[in-house]
Amino acid sequence: MPGLADAARGRILFGGDYNPEQWPEETWHEDVRLMKDARVNSVTVGVFSWSKLEPEPGAREFGWLDRLMDLLHDHGIGVVLATPTSAPPPWLGRLHPDTLPRTEDGRTEWWGGRQHFSHSSATYRRCAAAITEDLAARYGGHPALTMWHINNEYCTADYGDEAAAAFRRWLRRRYGTLDALNTAWGTAFWSQGYDTWDGILPPRLAHYLRNPAQVLDFRRFTSDMLLECYTAERDIVRRHTPHIPVTTNFMPLWFGQDAWRWAGEEDVVSVDLYPDPRDPLGAQSGALVQDMTRSQARGPWMLMEQAAGPVNWRGVNHPKPRGLNRLWSLQAVARGADAVCYFQWRQSRQGAEKFHSGMVGHAGERGRTFQEVKELGADLARIAPHVTGRHSRAGIAVLHDWHAWWAAAQEARPSREVDHADVLRAWHRALWQAHLTTDFAHPEHDLSAYRLVVVPQLYLLTDAAIENLLGWVRRGGTLVCGFLTGVADEDDRVRPGGMDARLRELFGIRTLHEWWPLEPGQTVDCEGFAGTLWSEELEADGAADETVPYRGGELDGLPAVLRRGRAWYLSTLPEPEALRDLLARIAAGAGVRPELDGLPAQVEAVRRGDLLFLLNHGREPVTVAVPGTHRDLLTETAVTDRITLGRYGVAVLRP
Ligand code: GAL
Repeated sequence: MPGLADAARGRILFGGDYNPEQWPEETWHEDVRLMKDARVNSVTVGVFSWSKLEPEPGAREFGWLDRLMDLLHDHGIGVVLATPTSAPPPWLGRLHPDTLPRTEDGRTEWWGGRQHFSHSSATYRRCAAAITEDLAARYGGHPALTMWHINNEYCTADYGDEAAAAFRRWLRRRYGTLDALNTAWGTAFWSQGYDTWDGILPPRLAHYLRNPAQVLDFRRFTSDMLLECYTAERDIVRRHTPHIPVTTNFMPLWFGQDAWRWAGEEDVVSVDLYPDPRDPLGAQSGALVQDMTRSQARGPWMLMEQAAGPVNWRGVNHPKPRGLNRLWSLQAVARGADAVCYFQWRQSRQGAEKFHSGMVGHAGERGRTFQEVKELGADLARIAPHVTGRHSRAGIAVLHDWHAWWAAAQEARPSREVDHADVLRAWHRALWQAHLTTDFAHPEHDLSAYRLVVVPQLYLLTDAAIENLLGWVRRGGTLVCGFLTGVADEDDRVRPGGMDARLRELFGIRTLHEWWPLEPGQTVDCEGFAGTLWSEELEADGAADETVPYRGGELDGLPAVLRRGRAWYLSTLPEPEALRDLLARIAAGAGVRPELDGLPAQVEAVRRGDLLFLLNHGREPVTVAVPGTHRDLLTETAVTDRITLGRYGVAVLRP
């Protein structure tokens, strides 16, 4: 299978989405001049070009794209060519209303924006396949083509009739018989027993709470349908160009796609990443997505989109202060990215994103944003020969699973305050603040490469996943689990005892009497720290080797934290510093240490191959002890024992 290396060929891909159809052709020449100036070597073309390519049903307008591909090739710029199928032209919806998705309350999502397609529509799929086929036939042999980019940020649901029929087919494949479905969905509750497949609907608007197992399956189905759309187009382009890698861009930690499954269908795993420049934890939220994407890619990955300056979809949209774009770009490279790209090359003057930055902003080539883009292009070219293809490996795996997230994100739970993604972020942040780099893994993955496995929260665990965790601990691994883990099986059926019996035994829990969720802002005293969000009335079975009790209140004296051998259970979410310190201690016990001792809080040290990236996320200069002699690849100077990093400064040290 081809991969990112085939497109990058020893370079770090640098560029962005390029939408030249929004500009007169004279501007294209200006564009390539500036691209060369900034060392842009890759642009993503055609993401939203369907109505330009097929202005009326069956027509083909390839002339402009021919000229563009030739122009880019003449200037040595590679093309990641997109199938335009995320933004169907108005004629498709007008002539074929069946291609338009319906919301859960039956409203139509009309054209006039983007992503107004139903994943289940046979007409949509037919038209998408036709334009994909013709693009692949026409440009498959073009020398500028380096990669295929299918659709864009697959993220839509559909509750309409064609989707309902597809849902029934999907359920038949999953369950075989109605009896099995009725059992899995627990339809004895509230008189929901189905006597015919035709009676089953997507979880449309209902008077009161919907069946959670039905909702969970609908989320699974939606991810699978979108995946079918992707693989159908992928298979078309692959047939024409088996040597050209294929990707589709994920949104960061996006709820709607089982990204483990999707990543397995991609040659290149790519992601779009937009941390808020004003967020004091922006660097951490970026690191989480980068760690997740690297783990999905199992090697180098592509930062498909980021913003050179402000976005336009937050309440208040802040630009990036000087240096932040470079810092966050190099953070991605440190964490395994071999491609650093943006949405978009040139800021639009019209349309819904005219206030979203581009690499070339409204201020043009003299603008600070473009000047910084140029500097970054030079930095990336300088380090590329030493960086590309190398792996960043971590000793810690954080487990994440979309099915557990989907099952947990439902109505009528013990607490609305508990959000799977927030809990995941809190645990990753604690590890990040302890200067520990982490991989992510699926709970059924082989974990043998790690020393420490961390489960912030996996409400739903399959038997296979539970056996995997037990085997991991049996073979000498250290495991730390957060609350609400192992509660439900894969049908969202609560396991006897409220938590899987095998896990209870693993941690030394005899009885889980009650969950005691906390109010927003409320804390619960534990010995040595405060717990947040949640607490549990647990009875230990006497086999625990270590416990930290709750202090005061209803749970006084009961265990907040339990350890039995190498298995830890946290029945609350410790406040951030306490979680950081506890995880650092457990990691050290498992033999996992930060890359450098004594790192200042705002400095991140990440290893990629034999390179050590030092990233100063602070606005103040800072001196870092780096014992020994190194070469900083960015400044091409020798570094002995210590280095000073300026505001948002970065060093890439080679031994
Ligand atoms: C991404 C999308 C781009 C652009 C960008 C703006 O989600 O793929 O097309 O809309 O957001 O931040």
